[in-house]
This record gives sequence, structure tokens and C-alpha cells, in this order.
Amino acid sequence: MENRSIPYGPTYEEMLHPSKMDEETKAKAVKAKEDEFDKHNLFNINWRNENNEVNKIVLPKELTGIDANIVVMLGSYFPSGSHKVGPAYSTLIEGCVHGDILPGEKTILGPSTGNFGIGVSYICNLMGYDAIVIMPDNMSKERYENISRYGAKLDLTPGTESDVILTLERTYELMKNPENHSLAQFELLPNYRFHRHVTGNSAIEAVKGIGNGRIACFTSAPGSAGTLAAGDQIKAVFPEAKIAALEPYECSTLSNGGRGQHRIEGIGDKMCTLIHNVITTDFVVLIEDEDCVKGLKIIHDGTDILVESGVDPEIAKQMIPLFGVSGICNILGAIKMAKHLNLGVDDNVLTIATDGFNRYDSVLEELDKRSLETSHNVLKRWFGDVFMEADTNRIFDFRTPERKQQLFDQKEKDWIPFGYKKEYLDTMKDMSFWDNEYNKIEEIDVQIKAMRKDL
Ligand SMILES: Cc1ncc(COP(=O)(O)O)c(C=O)c1O
Repeated sequence: MENRSIPYGPTYEEMLHPSKMDEETKAKAVKAKEDEFDKHNLFNINWRNENNEVNKIVLPKELTGIDANIVVMLGSYFPSGSHKVGPAYSTLIEGCVHGDILPGEKTILGPSTGNFGIGVSYICNLMGYDAIVIMPDNMSKERYENISRYGAKLDLTPGTESDVILTLERTYELMKNPENHSLAQFELLPNYRFHRHVTGNSAIEAVKGIGNGRIACFTSAPGSAGTLAAGDQIKAVFPEAKIAALEPYECSTLSNGGRGQHRIEGIGDKMCTLIHNVITTDFVVLIEDEDCVKGLKIIHDGTDILVESGVDPEIAKQMIPLFGVSGICNILGAIKMAKHLNLGVDDNVLTIATDGFNRYDSVLEELDKRSLETSHNVLKRWFGDVFMEADTNRIFDFRTPERKQQLFDQKEKDWIPFGYKKEYLDTMKDMSFWDNEYNKIEEIDVQIKAMRKDL
């Protein structure tokens, strides 16, 4: 393969500020957008458009029914179609920097429910590694197609989103072979570093000029809980900001240890992940999976209803490709939290759309079959139920010591069986653990640059 032995790509700082890259690299990155298999797309792993602005949409109030501004950062513009490529790249490049991963000598494992797997497959293609994605066998078919298209092999374990623990067990088994190296998104801190630095600081920039220019609340539904780390940076800059972790009502592991199957792909994985900084999680909110799928249907197929309800037709059209099911979950969480916190016109709630609609056709086909009828009247009723009348039930305040302990306990229950020591988990109970991990970025960036020079 031509690009074997090219473990190079952007630093964390360049992912946050691509404008800091040298002119030659910038030009190569722009050109690479014409061919997704061009390795210089590594330098397009960032939240920005060609004008260096963060990709985002401020949702129309005729959709949200609230005064506060909901600002959604759009992950679908990342190479490979979701921001999960960021943690995949960051974990791989840190492994290269530390000398753990040499192209041609290691096969990369990507335990995933899909999007991280797509990111791993894509990154390994650009950087010249063989890859295996380990994931449940009942996810939407678009995910398997994308992973295979980018070249990784699939190793499927039984179940759906909430059976991720089986994929972890399988990954641990494969790791007994020293030729394998896992980009363990649920455990490794490059995922935390990417989102705290790149997503968090991009979020702070995204609200400039909107409302009071601050962030009152950040909502994110954890899969690996990487995205939630953006909240740590948001809080560092806006100490009043509240962080709400959203989970499926059908799989309420963080709220009350509940476990069950659900339809919000990418989140609600029946665990408190190792990299979830529970210290900064202020609220846990339960969202019904069917509301998310119906909400997606309305945005995708209900443009006329949105327009009838006062949404600008251009914006209604613009929104069609922007969200997946978990994006709608994040938006519903944002609406609920704005109501719960009584936020007004000056306040901003920031949230994330991890990917876009293009991996969810099959999910809407399934909804159509299940619903018997999705006529104009039915969709109009759903629009009211899902968005306008979003309620503030099932919002739990996790700022008390008892609730924090509950999350620490959940983490121990989930990770001690995988060999982690209680003493190590205890170090995560102090914010200094997370700040130390975050502060490693400076040194890692120096090493990434040094490695690039050696090529
Ligand atoms: C569609 C989708 N939404 C949300 C998430 C959750 O993001 P994170 O893993 O950063 O918590 C994922 C993770 O894979 C995802 O694929």
C-alpha cells in the first residue's frame, strides 16, 4: 500500500485551529476534499468550514418552542461523516507517538457500535493499517457498508447498541494476540483529550454572537462519553454551565442501573465508561427512543409541517440531512433542560449532532413499517408531541454526593471485571486526574510535530 509507514497527521491544536497549519498542508487538505481516500484528509479532521467557522445551526424557535437558543454543532461534515473520526485518529496517532503502533506490524482493533468503527476503518485506510471493527450484529445496515467500504474487516458480536459489553469482551480476547492493538474508545484518554480540547473550545467559539455569547447548558448523550468531555472545557470557561448526560429511557444505566434494548444508535451502552468524568455531570436525563426516531422522521420527511408551523422554508430544507437519531436525542435533551433551567432569550444551550441522516434511511423505513400510517396528520401530531410539548419529566439532579457515588460505583462495577484496579479508579474522583490528562496535549503535540519532521 502506497501510504504504509506514514503515521502522520494534525496536532490537537491544529484540529482546533486548522488555520495554524502551514500553507502547503492547508492547500493539500483543501484539495483532498475532492477524494475521500486522499490521506491529506487527516488535516480536515476539525469542526470548521472553508471560512474557518464552526459548522453549526441555531435551531428555529418554531421547532423548539422555547426562548433559549439551541446551537447544534454538526459532526456530519467531518471526513467519513461523523466526528467519531476525531477520537479514532487521536488514539491512533498517540499510539504512533508512543511507539506502540508501527504500520504493517499491528492490526488495529476498533470496538464500536458503528460510527467509531467507521472512523477507525477510514483512518486506518488513510494511514496504512489493517483494521478489524468489533461491533454488535444488529445495527443499521449503513454502518456495516461504510466500514467495509473503507477496508476494515468486521467481527460481529450478538445484539444491538446495549450489548457493547460483548464487543468489549471480544476485543479483550483478540488483544491476547500481540499483533493486535485496540483503539479502546471507552477506556483510552485521547478520546477525552480530543473532545475537551477540539470540541469544547470549538463549542465556546460556536456561541460567539449568539444570545449572551455564553453556554448555560451542554447536553450530550454518552456512548463512550468522549463528547461529554467538551463540557469540562465549557465549564472551565463558563463556570455557570450545566452539563446534562442523556440516556435512553429504555436503558437507564446511569440513572438507576437500568438495562434494556433501545433504538438510539451510538449511545446508551449499558455502562459508565472509564473515560466518563462523572464529577462534572450535573444532570442525567432520560429520553424515549421512539421520540428520537419520530423527531428524525419529522425533520427528514415533514418539511411541510415545519413550514406550516412557521419554520423558514430554507432552514427546514437545510436541516434535512443534518441529524441522525442521537442528534435528535441531544436536541430533545436541550429543549427539556432549557425548560427545566428556565432559560430565556439570552441563554444558549449547546449540543452536538454526531453524524447526519445518511446512515439512517433504514431506521425510518422500519418506523414506517411499524407505524402503519405516517400521513400528514400523524406527523403533525408527532411534531407537537415530540418537540412542542417536550416535558421536564425524568430529569435527575446528579450534583449530590450520593448521586456522584452512584456513578463511581457503576464505573467500578463495569471496569473492575476488565482488570482495572480500584486504586486507579479512585484517582478519577479528583478533577486533577482529568486536568492532568488534558494538560498532556502540549507535549503530545510537540511529539506529533517531531514525528512529522522525521518523515
Ligand atoms: C451516532 C452517535 N451518537 C452519539 C455517540 C456518542 O458519542 P460519544 O462516544 O462521544 O459519547 C456515538 C458514538 O459512537 C454515535 O455513534
